[in-house]
Amino acid sequence: MPRLFPEGFLWGTAISSFQAEMGRGESASASDWWTWVHDAVNISGGRVSGEFPEDGPGFWELYPGDLRLAKEELGNNAVRLSIDWARIFPASTEAVEVDVKNDGSGNISGIVVDEEAMRGLEDLADAAAVRRYREILSEARRLRLKVMLTLFHWPLPAWLHDAVACRDDVANAGRKGWLDEATLVEFAKYAAYAGRRFGDLVDLWATVNETRIASEYAYLRGEFPPGLRDFDLFMAAYRNLSAAHGFAYEQLKRWAPSPGGDGTKVGVVAVLQYYEPENPDDPKDVAAANFNEYLWNEWSLNAVTRGDYDMDLDGVAGPGERLPHLAKGCDFIGVNHYLRQRVRHDESRLGEQVKEGNCSDIGWEIHPRGLRYVLDWVWRRYRLPVYVTENGIADAQDSKRVRYLLGYLDELHRAISEDGVPVRGYFHWTLMDSYEWNKGFGTRFGLYSVDRVTKKRVPTRAVPVYREICSSNSLP
Ligand code: FCB
Repeated sequence: MPRLFPEGFLWGTAISSFQAEMGRGESASASDWWTWVHDAVNISGGRVSGEFPEDGPGFWELYPGDLRLAKEELGNNAVRLSIDWARIFPASTEAVEVDVKNDGSGNISGIVVDEEAMRGLEDLADAAAVRRYREILSEARRLRLKVMLTLFHWPLPAWLHDAVACRDDVANAGRKGWLDEATLVEFAKYAAYAGRRFGDLVDLWATVNETRIASEYAYLRGEFPPGLRDFDLFMAAYRNLSAAHGFAYEQLKRWAPSPGGDGTKVGVVAVLQYYEPENPDDPKDVAAANFNEYLWNEWSLNAVTRGDYDMDLDGVAGPGERLPHLAKGCDFIGVNHYLRQRVRHDESRLGEQVKEGNCSDIGWEIHPRGLRYVLDWVWRRYRLPVYVTENGIADAQDSKRVRYLLGYLDELHRAISEDGVPVRGYFHWTLMDSYEWNKGFGTRFGLYSVDRVTKKRVPTRAVPVYREICSSNSLP
């Protein structure tokens, strides 16, 4: 008996602008990531791969063919894309006046973008970039692909973040990106503008992709711009990125028309991995696994949905940490899920990761049951509709992808049919091989692999399998 998914279930792939756009024609993006991956010190220090996004798959030019693959070869009815803030506003929007309210305790609590500010933003926006994004989104709609559009999938405009200066001397650097609350104001303007200019073409909006990775890899692991390792800075960025959702939510609700006429839908995308103690009988391993789940999976969603900012990480939002006026709303939660992480205690609160088992090319442990766990978890806790916004595997040999896909979709189906989780769609990461941030091109997540010279898309073994699932809306 084939196992059906609910009617109207969205099937798609996810790509992100910085990772997929470059490769043909126009390239440079005026973003911190662009500067970061070209920086000689980062390259010689091994912080980045030394490969460049301008050798990428070239979606900016080749999008008609890619969207056709999604529709016709994969049988998809949806696609998740992102737009590059720095392409739309290559120069500063700081001079555009908006009304910024403060809650009296030093937190920005409200941002009002009015018609006049909108005109100022229109003057500053890069008309050619806006036109191209409209063409891309229109093409997706013409093919009857529902569009989920992410505002912030990591690159910041360089005028907001001088990542190299921050790397070298953060205390004295001028433009500090998400460390600076003023970035929230610019983000709200960008959200308002994007809502106004693209709202008629967008079915679902995602504000921020993975508040956790965007702050952890930048400020704790030292891998993303600005390459620092400082817990306090990490918490500051985690806080601001979580608050950013609310301000963008408000603007999108105000400025984005809903093409379906059923209200603009705006959610956040969280990466929720599955944490298990290495030894379930050892209370210290259990405590470390629980703390991972709290810090990585729960903390930011509590902030987004309730305004709970547990800055001292004692597990409760105390009086000064409760900021319900920052929780502006959230219509759905996007779940990015990739792996199981087994945790063994050590002297740190987070413990260390156990690295063994059936892994992808980059050591991410395959454990499909974890997807059902996090879907149940997120629904029980937050009671919001859920989309799986990313799930996939780095598999250059193309030997594990089919099993990975079938295994995870089996658990997804169980979460819906047995546990009653309202999962509304699944977006596989990713359509075609793309630029994997500091790791470059060796990491191959694509359902299609890409020849870096000819840009030819070559289907992996998972393509016919995914097509069958998407077009029948069922699992074999
Ligand atoms: C996620 C990111 C995405 C890609 C995948 C592999 O954390 O959102 O851009 O890098 O991992």
